[in-house]
Amino acid sequence: MDIRILRFDSLPSTNTEAANQARQGAAEGLCVVADEQTGGKGRQGRSWVSTKGSGVYMSLVLRPKIEARYLPLITLMAAVAVYDLLKEGYRLDPDIKWPNDILVGGKKICGILAEAVETPAGVAVILGIGINLQTPVDQKNATSLTAESQHRADRDEIVEALLVDIAHVYAEFRSSPTGIVEMWTARSSYASGLDVEIALENGTFTGSTDGLEDNGALRVRLPDGSLRIIQAGDVQRLRTS
Ligand code: BTN
Repeated sequence: MDIRILRFDSLPSTNTEAANQARQGAAEGLCVVADEQTGGKGRQGRSWVSTKGSGVYMSLVLRPKIEARYLPLITLMAAVAVYDLLKEGYRLDPDIKWPNDILVGGKKICGILAEAVETPAGVAVILGIGINLQTPVDQKNATSLTAESQHRADRDEIVEALLVDIAHVYAEFRSSPTGIVEMWTARSSYASGLDVEIALENGTFTGSTDGLEDNGALRVRLPDGSLRIIQAGDVQRLRTS
């Protein structure tokens, strides 16, 4: 994958800009980076705090040639790459909360938002990644590289190192999409045997995690022994005290 980085001072959202670039024909490997986002987007319609210089805000254009049912694995792939960067580059002890929140000490340091867009050259996936350099105020469940690491957190260095990690994991992904499930499972305490509460649009339920399906969906064992497959939802670790 040939990487090309486009830098902006301010954008509404790097995902929106990258999607526009993809519709205009941008090749796989275009990466849009901004110092701030005025309308940063999170999962499930939420917003992403994106004040100037306080985070890494980047979106990569991918054009994966895979079956549509495997597209959710792209967010898992990105989570693996961010995990490896924080572990190897910053000596942190991260965790991945299904599907793709990166936590350090139980607090969120990175969020990932992948969006599929129709383009004249076929479906593109916009892989948006936000990493906190400073901890957003008033977010008690958030943390940041500055709070967790002795290393100086340089935005451009992080972008470049992360793109190297993504290119590596993406190469694995293209040769065997479902191999990502194993890589993700090896890095996440949420993969199996964890008591969780799952919030869906129409309510919540509890159960114990029991691995992932080959498209990345979460298997949850219910108290009555039955299995429920979760394609999208919010997972919370249940306190065991
Ligand atoms: C989440 O955890 O809810 C996902 C957050 C994703 C935030 C990133 S920042 C760069 C890219 N542009 C956006 O508008 N969102 C993603």
